[in-house]
Amino acid sequence: MKKEEKIIIFDTTLRDGEQAPGASMNQREKLEVALALERLGVDIIEAGFPVISKGDFESVEMVAKKVKHSTVAGLARSIKKDIDAAGEALKSAKRGRIHVFLATSKIHLEHKLRKSPDEIVQMAVDAVKAARQWTDDVEFSPEDASRSEKTFLYRVLEAVIKAGARTVNIPDTVGYAMPEQYGKLITDIRNNVPNIDKAIISVHCHNDLGLAVANSLAAVKCGARQVECTINGIGERAGNAAMEEIVMAIRTRSDYFGVSTGINTPEICRVSRLVSKYTGFVIAPNKSIVGGNAFRHESGIHQDGVLKEPTTYEIIRPEDVGFTGTGLVLGKHSGRAALKARLKHLGIELSDAELLRAFGRFKDLCDKKKEVFDEDLVAIVEDEVQEVKDVWTLDSLIVTSGTKIPPDVRMTLRSSGKVFQQQATGDGPIDACYVAIDTVTGMRGKLLNYSIQSVTEGQDAMGEVRVRVNFDGQKIMGIGASTDVIEASVKAYLNAVNKACIAAASKKTKGKAIDFGLQP
Ligand code: KIV
Ligand code: ZN
Repeated sequence: MKKEEKIIIFDTTLRDGEQAPGASMNQREKLEVALALERLGVDIIEAGFPVISKGDFESVEMVAKKVKHSTVAGLARSIKKDIDAAGEALKSAKRGRIHVFLATSKIHLEHKLRKSPDEIVQMAVDAVKAARQWTDDVEFSPEDASRSEKTFLYRVLEAVIKAGARTVNIPDTVGYAMPEQYGKLITDIRNNVPNIDKAIISVHCHNDLGLAVANSLAAVKCGARQVECTINGIGERAGNAAMEEIVMAIRTRSDYFGVSTGINTPEICRVSRLVSKYTGFVIAPNKSIVGGNAFRHESGIHQDGVLKEPTTYEIIRPEDVGFTGTGLVLGKHSGRAALKARLKHLGIELSDAELLRAFGRFKDLCDKKKEVFDEDLVAIVEDEVQEVKDVWTLDSLIVTSGTKIPPDVRMTLRSSGKVFQQQATGDGPIDACYVAIDTVTGMRGKLLNYSIQSVTEGQDAMGEVRVRVNFDGQKIMGIGASTDVIEASVKAYLNAVNKACIAAASKKTKGKAIDFGLQP
């Protein structure tokens, strides 16, 4: 049997994905996502754009140090200082790639770059040569390739391959292409760039017309061998091609594509949830592969079919993407060992102290909720065992609100063993809570975004709240869960406050012991 050709999966969640408005992650979160991507079996992780900021540089550097199996890439414009920043950030990578880009479409040349075609070819060649001084693994992207004049595109590709680019990426930067047209572009490149056999053709599609995955797959069918994509399809504007959809399409329809990826698919849902948690982007229930409803059958006819033979209505086995479903797992008689075993099954390993805290929350939940599902356990762990050291914790909360009375909140917060009480009012009960928190902590956050989602079904379900708060220009995500949605809202906001306190303290101390200065 002929061995299937491999499709290289290039993940850009931490670069193009993070460019999505409001999706920024802190360094610790980026590292955790990078390590999860490595476990997922991603071939290349684009960790950031090092020249953009000190934070981006440090994130790429940190990912390059910690990731051992995947190649780590850094993006650079075709400018020496960008390339040097990328080279420097990737210095300790086991396998590092510099990804340089330069626009090739007439629109970009005339209006953005104000350069002639000859100047562009020269800049691209110089950039690739400069990147090759740092590493043999250089990728070149002619930005807006799908709207570039084809003969010019061939000329640029031939020149950069000659200069040492091993991968040439063909971005559909503005999501303009149609699948047939984009597939043909790949075929035409293969037929018209004389030295194309010396490079791998990569594709990078945006989703402005909802075609990013379709375009990427059309390109694979026509010979592209690297796909650039993001988890949950996050990215600039309408996003990038969703990795989980590309990988599962290639796997499910291997009869059609005749290629495979090295992705460890049972890890998909876990990474998807992690990215959703850190970006604050909720996954739509009907999202392919990772949405909560992706494997739920509502119609009686479908349920009957699936019970008799799953393949009647399921083209993917839920376990193949790590979809744990809504299995009834534990109840109030379950002990700590059972909780530990179930969490382990979900891929969550806790220290003894963390397990003890999670167990306390689990028991509280059993008193409030008849049935405890896997999703509840994940929410408890995310909420209770936050990696963030709690500077402030909620001690008690009394809220009075109604249609004809102003909301009234009495809140007690704790910090460093001290107790702080505050009464507040606001536009609504949640606003009043946030006013109370700001008054006590002195943090003055501006709420940018608030979303609430029920973790499972039913009136007794836990609510998971995500907030994005601006503290002095720094946008921070917070998450909190509870069967009481006002308590969940307070926890989410406090989680963001705690992250902001830690960021501010570490900036102030520059490595000295941290004193949080907790004066109300
Ligand atoms: O969309 C795009 O063109 C890009 C390039 C930098 C590859 O993200
Ligand atoms: Zn892009």
